[in-house]
Amino acid sequence: MRRVYLDNNATTRMDPRVLEAMSPHFLQDFGNASSIHEFGQQAREAVETARQAVADLIGCLPKEIVFTSGGTESDNTAIRGIAAGHSGKGRHLITTTIEHPAVLRTMERLEEEGFQVTYLPVDRQGLIRLDDLRAAVREDTILISVMHANNETGAIQDLRAVGRLARKKGILFHSDAVQSAGKIPVDVNDLGVDLLTLSAHKIHGPKGVGALYIRHGVEMKSLLLGGSHERGRRGGTENVPGIVGLGKAAALARKGLADFDLRVRSLRDRLETGLLERIPQARINGSTLRRMPHTTNLSFRGVEGEALLISLDLQGIAVSTGAACSSGSLEPSHVLKAMGFQNRRVESALRLSLSRMTIEEEIATALDVLPSTVQRMRELSPLYRESRNRVQREGQRAHS
Ligand SMILES: Cc1ncc(COP(=O)(O)O)c(C=O)c1O
Repeated sequence: MRRVYLDNNATTRMDPRVLEAMSPHFLQDFGNASSIHEFGQQAREAVETARQAVADLIGCLPKEIVFTSGGTESDNTAIRGIAAGHSGKGRHLITTTIEHPAVLRTMERLEEEGFQVTYLPVDRQGLIRLDDLRAAVREDTILISVMHANNETGAIQDLRAVGRLARKKGILFHSDAVQSAGKIPVDVNDLGVDLLTLSAHKIHGPKGVGALYIRHGVEMKSLLLGGSHERGRRGGTENVPGIVGLGKAAALARKGLADFDLRVRSLRDRLETGLLERIPQARINGSTLRRMPHTTNLSFRGVEGEALLISLDLQGIAVSTGAACSSGSLEPSHVLKAMGFQNRRVESALRLSLSRMTIEEEIATALDVLPSTVQRMRELSPLYRESRNRVQREGQRAHS
């Protein structure tokens, strides 16, 4: 059976060059990066080379990078670390309704602990409004956390504008850039962020490793205590192979940025346009102007997204409904709901996400299989048949 992988926002296939870079650090150069001896020094050098590569990807200093176990830990560390370190100044934080659960659940926990959180709404495009942010800022606001690109729709927030406002008001600014860094240019100074979350497995690196950028001089409390690793920011023996993998993935991603924008965008556009042409009553969810080049989120009226996902899986095509990507749950997407869509549209949504490893044949197969699958499922749906007949009757009446 042909296998088509269009769920790259959930995770990506590791680049063989990343595996090659990591591999000596399991059996041969296995030292602890904190050890004084030769084994340790080799490991330290590998970690610092990786730190430089990650810093180069986002335009910061190597000492501003802290390695973590992934995007989730970086988000938790950033938010909890700032909350704990700055609670003397204030106990109010601002975020958005469309964040990844790694941010949302952390914010909710802080609320249980006595902090106050404002969740900014988004418009139909999935974008926050600057006026809402301006209105939400208070004297006691200590952190603004706004994601860069959304994992379900690919919508890109105007971080530069948020950064300007945060700077003007003297508020620290964190962004979850798990879905953007390594795919589009991300420069921490240009965007004006103080903290930025990265994850390796979304850019063909290993799972379970990520990084948090912390601007030099930003004071915060550590989440993991236990040693002076990572300049005291994150205790625990460094995951040397993972960190080397992240470094290599970051270096490869940086080199491939232009190709990503050109080739992956063109494949995504071909897929999206083809599906819209072949499937009646299909609609794009979210901004098409401020959007990542590799993601499309579409609703197919009258079709249940989860059922479509399973049917496609049986035909060798891996996609996501977006909502299930992070939690494995069948809850309707909180992102599409926040964008103001009715349940029908939310429940019929499908997310297709590409990567630099996506090939033309995969797009061709998806264009071949998806339309007939949607049609078959619609034929089985009494609700869809009824609504189609109603639309036809209304059309006939309008013409007579
Ligand atoms: C936007 C966003 N933030 C955070 C995460 C969590 O990253 P990780 O899987 O590395 O913990 C993800 C992954 O799904 C994501 O898409």
